[in-house]
Amino acid sequence: MENPYYRPRRLRRNEAIRSMVRETRLSPSDFIYPFFVCPGSGVRKEIGSMPGVFNLSIDILVEECRSVRALGIPAVLLFGLPPAKDEVGSDAYAEDGIVQQAVRAIKPAVPDLLVITDLCLCEYTSHGHCGQLRDGDVANDETLRLLAKAALAQAKAGADIIAPSDMMDGRVRAIREALDEQHFESIPILSYAAKYASGFYGPFREAADSAPKFGDRRSYQMDPANQREAIREVALDIEEGADIVMVKPAMPYLDVIYRVKTEFDLPVAAYQVSGEYSALVAAHRNGWLDRERTILESLTCIKRAGADMIITYFAKDAAKLVG
Ligand code: PBG
Repeated sequence: MENPYYRPRRLRRNEAIRSMVRETRLSPSDFIYPFFVCPGSGVRKEIGSMPGVFNLSIDILVEECRSVRALGIPAVLLFGLPPAKDEVGSDAYAEDGIVQQAVRAIKPAVPDLLVITDLCLCEYTSHGHCGQLRDGDVANDETLRLLAKAALAQAKAGADIIAPSDMMDGRVRAIREALDEQHFESIPILSYAAKYASGFYGPFREAADSAPKFGDRRSYQMDPANQREAIREVALDIEEGADIVMVKPAMPYLDVIYRVKTEFDLPVAAYQVSGEYSALVAAHRNGWLDRERTILESLTCIKRAGADMIITYFAKDAAKLVG
């Protein structure tokens, strides 16, 4: 048999050569670590459906933030569990709301850690939907006003980046205008631009106690079947002033990450969500999948598809593995 002119296996013969031709490398600076902050002190309560992830009170959270920074991870993403919920999610925009308090504690303690605040009402509303209700559905424009107020409260507390995850139409513009009016024009908006109505958020809703009490989120989050629509959503958010655009979930949506990366010239974030995390952890615990390999492979593939940054509950584990 004639020698093929090109033999791909030549560049796979040993780790040294594989490393030389490797196209995608992970580093701790790729990751953003999500936290769930709750009232009280000394609280560190593991989430049943997310082993290794906790609800933390602010004192413990500050310590955790120090260790995250020490691992070379540049940013954390905060979600709040308020002491009380109501129809209009007041704690989300209260000056002393749980996330605002957490930001005020973290920033002076770990000044070079970026604090990104998730901006949504679902953790704060008694009905668990991402906005104010009218006739059994989320009222878009009323919700925009509340989101703008919450963005301002977060900015005043010292948030470095605001990350709206609600999927209301026009929210990026509403938030950008509110921030600029109060001289927060230099705070970037990381928008959850293509956020799908995904079954993979299940464990998060236990972690954040945010499952909708009726119905679902399909009237505002995207249909998992749609790719073209994601391009339109991202384009809209960019027009409205987004600085970084996110695709969420990550691994089941690599095609969307790839298209967003190739069609726009803004940084792209991807969110490896709770269900992606928990499914892997369950398989690791059963001995069905190799823990280190599959953590690194999943994150490498998300980066290869085009993510410039990855929000992941594996951030600390991965930073230790690649750092
Ligand atoms: C809030 C929000 C959700 C997630 C991030 N922000 C839940 C939802 O939309 O139901 C999910 C994150 C995860 O599953 O890890 N709107």
